[in-house]
Amino acid sequence: MVEIGIVVGEARPERIKFFTKEAVRVGEFVVTDTVDGRVLYLVESSKLESKLLSSVGDYITAIEAKEASKANPRDVVRYCAARAVGLIEGVLKGRRVYPTLPPEPGSAVFLAEDDLLRQIFHNDSREWVEVGRLLRRDGVIVSINLNKVASRHLAILAATGKGKSNLLALLAKETAEKNGTMIILDYHAEYCKLKIEKARFVTPRINPRHLDSEELADMLDIRSDATRQRGILGRAYNKNVASSPNFWEALKKNLEDIVENEETDFQAKVTAERVLEIIDRGLAIKGNIFNTETESPLDIIEPNRINVLDLSGFTEIQAQIIVARYLTEILNDRKNATLGRRSRFKSPVVIAVEEAHTFIPYDRKSKCSDVLARIAREGRKFGVSLILVSQRPCKLDADVASQMGSFAVSGLTHPKDQDFVMEVTDEVSTELGASLPSLNTGEMILAGQWVTVPALVKVDLIEEKVIGMDLNAIEMWAEDVNVGYRRISTEELIRL
Ligand SMILES: Nc1ncnc2c1ncn2[C@@H]1O[C@H](COP(=O)(O)OP(=O)(O)O)[C@@H](O)[C@H]1O
Ligand SMILES: [Mg+2]
Repeated sequence: MVEIGIVVGEARPERIKFFTKEAVRVGEFVVTDTVDGRVLYLVESSKLESKLLSSVGDYITAIEAKEASKANPRDVVRYCAARAVGLIEGVLKGRRVYPTLPPEPGSAVFLAEDDLLRQIFHNDSREWVEVGRLLRRDGVIVSINLNKVASRHLAILAATGKGKSNLLALLAKETAEKNGTMIILDYHAEYCKLKIEKARFVTPRINPRHLDSEELADMLDIRSDATRQRGILGRAYNKNVASSPNFWEALKKNLEDIVENEETDFQAKVTAERVLEIIDRGLAIKGNIFNTETESPLDIIEPNRINVLDLSGFTEIQAQIIVARYLTEILNDRKNATLGRRSRFKSPVVIAVEEAHTFIPYDRKSKCSDVLARIAREGRKFGVSLILVSQRPCKLDADVASQMGSFAVSGLTHPKDQDFVMEVTDEVSTELGASLPSLNTGEMILAGQWVTVPALVKVDLIEEKVIGMDLNAIEMWAEDVNVGYRRISTEELIRL
């Protein structure tokens, strides 16, 4: 083993500081000995400081201090803070046991060897799948426990463009390979070109009979402040409509009755006529998502497939209503399965929620807040798990987020987002959190139950997901040059 530093200052069992001769990067793994045995540490901060150059107040002094610093090798100090990951003996068996006493000051700090890290991070048993490599050790493959994703929930929290969707696509691919069931709630039609054999792309189907009149109004694009229109729709949408074999005809008939009724006041007549127009327009535009026959919206979701539910083209509230219907049905179905009753999904279902802050906002209840909270709390018992994906973690419902067992975090620059992450997982400390903005695309902190040990990982780029890339506008404009456009000469222009 290569000795790289010496423990200094006040060491605690879970945290050490050490001086080093050479640079040691955040995310590196080091080991040192304690009375309990050898301990693995994760470097969380790495500082380089010149005492002489720290206190200069002008340029000339800075030049002098630079020369003095060069002449005095003691002036530049490199020091690191590292957090105990656990006793190596335990970590190798997948257990995290902390030392009871810190290392003695002056203890030698060694770089953890690749071989040791390989034993810790690479696991080829059935539950584990490879997701990338240790950021500081290219030669160490990192595996995650997919079983924990499918049972204990996962949050992927990272700034835009840091590779959230890539990681989700990678997990979808691995889930497909294990014959698993996943539903991706695709708010931005990002996954419609996912090239996984078992991927299916479906548009949601909603039976309007299952909606209350306010939800029906939302689905028909009646404005939320159009209280008169909503009121008239509520009057027309009675029990008979809900049970009528021809739902839309029955609903429209009731509205026409309002229009034709001599006792109806003028205002109500006009409003009912407007609602009739809105229904016709709604059916013309979105008719294919309403299905008055289907018993359950789950008919279009297949077990043992990656089901991409296309929510693009819906407003926020409509997407929430759809998600609420689907997730309620899935949870009920899985409850039935565990009780030995008839069910569509015989095995666990993973639900991935892109743009999760849209569906579980922190400051109010959305139409699907309740069901998502229920799944977060009790989904585990029934084999329903969540993957929440968001670039604004602080805008997520903290109660739901705190139920997540595993985390992938990267590139968050906003202090509120960083604080939120540290609140919901104690594995990302303030110091490690401070390194988040400097992580590049695909570089993520993986923490929680899906990894043996928290680590900085370079996630693999998957080729199956070609979408989500920034559009190449210049190329696309260039391709347009000869399409549908004829160059007109100046003479022609004059003649025109
Ligand atoms: N692990 C990775 N390694 C290299 N490039 C990546 C990686 N993950 C994502 N990218 C690239 O970064 C871009 C944004 O990735 P994406 O997953 O869409 O980010 P996000 O969903 O966080 O906005 C894509 O063009 C993708 O090709
Ligand atoms: Mg994305």
